[in-house]
Amino acid sequence: MRLARPALPRLLRRTTAGVATLAAAGLLATAAPGALAAPSPTLAAPDIPLANVKAHLSQFQSIAQANGGNRAHGRPGYKASIDYVKGKLDAAGFTTSVQQFTSSGATGYNLVADWPGGDPNKVLMAGAHLDSVSAGAGVNDNGSGSAGVLETALAVSRAQLKPTKHLRFAWWGAEELGMVGSRYYVNNLPSTERSKVSGYLNFDMIASPNPGYFVYDDDPTIEKTFKDYYAGLNVPTEIETEGDGRSDHAPFKNVGIPVGGLFSGAERAKSSAQAQKWGGSAGQAFDRCYHSSCDSASNINDTALDRNSDAIAHAIWALGTDTTVPPGDSYENTTDVAIPDNGAAVTSTVNVTGRTGNAPATLKVDVDIRHTWRGDVVVDLLAPDGTAYRLKNSSGNDSADNVIATYTVDASSEVANGAWKLRVQDVAAQDTGYINSWKLTF
Ligand code: TRP
Ligand code: ZN
Ligand code: CA
Repeated sequence: MRLARPALPRLLRRTTAGVATLAAAGLLATAAPGALAAPSPTLAAPDIPLANVKAHLSQFQSIAQANGGNRAHGRPGYKASIDYVKGKLDAAGFTTSVQQFTSSGATGYNLVADWPGGDPNKVLMAGAHLDSVSAGAGVNDNGSGSAGVLETALAVSRAQLKPTKHLRFAWWGAEELGMVGSRYYVNNLPSTERSKVSGYLNFDMIASPNPGYFVYDDDPTIEKTFKDYYAGLNVPTEIETEGDGRSDHAPFKNVGIPVGGLFSGAERAKSSAQAQKWGGSAGQAFDRCYHSSCDSASNINDTALDRNSDAIAHAIWALGTDTTVPPGDSYENTTDVAIPDNGAAVTSTVNVTGRTGNAPATLKVDVDIRHTWRGDVVVDLLAPDGTAYRLKNSSGNDSADNVIATYTVDASSEVANGAWKLRVQDVAAQDTGYINSWKLTF
């Protein structure tokens, strides 16, 4: 149960001369230093099977072959590509919708697939353009990104992932006409919906035959997520420098949505320095078949496709299952608990949920105990595992009223989530009181 911060005046009411915050340091048990490492705040992503991604690419190739050699906006190969991707997502339990728009006198389609669940106010999106140019099948540009995003979505379904964020995948139409589909989507998203999109990840050309490993230099968290993934593989990356405005992340970026993405290179030539770190051919384009008829199933580097597909999944899992709760959250119990005179200890419980890892070294404990002779009272904080942290000792001659104080506890060796208790015992006869409220602030 998480409760709102109490109104300040409530804590200040009925204060006495002895109410000043007690310096808790000397009273507190010392935590074992670094006993537990904070666990990773996210779930680990599955490996995305390269064979599955390649199977989608061969379907895109076949679709183009059966429809005049391309999958371009306004051509039957485009709609057939939409139908293929939609069929896979519908079968996997996604909620899909096809958004129509008109461009250059032809109907275009965006496909949007929502994975049920997650926080509707924190939407993590990933997308790829599904259209090719009319010159060819567009297997690298952009069957590769489309297949990588599709197979990641299907992996979400296989895992029956319960992400913290709401996940939404999208395949855009008419990117090759100037990001028409993605701009249409963003422009038609009501501003209240727009503000819920916490990030958009774009994948346009991720399996170039002479690949580079470029990470968009945009939102720092997204960028770091991809860079960390590649650091784990020991594969160097470079910042993608030509991409701004050249793909479907641009309409999102233009309305202030954090964006990021991956790119394996297009018509530019790989430098010799790049060939040294990545292999491949210096002085040759990353994709010699960019926007041409040879962008077919053979225009794919399997290693780049494999790594980038895994990187997409890594980012969706890392950013979509992040349980980090901002610092400063409070958990309070305001139910009164009577403290028997010279009697047994009583407790009041606060249940902490939704946090990751351990409690902080500066866990704040606000205590509000009403008592007519506070020297009678001994107060401990009990961690979920039962470890006691002494907040206040008894002292026979402290005759002031009440214990209204804020203590700071080094609780860094305690797991944050669980039932924390305030334990209060009255150890001398005559005066009594009650726990009025208490609160933990992380
Ligand atoms: N579809 C994009 C285009 O035709 C491909 C591209 C080129 C790209 N350079 C890029 C995509 C940089 C992302 C980043 O322009
Ligand atoms: Zn493209
Ligand atoms: Ca007493």
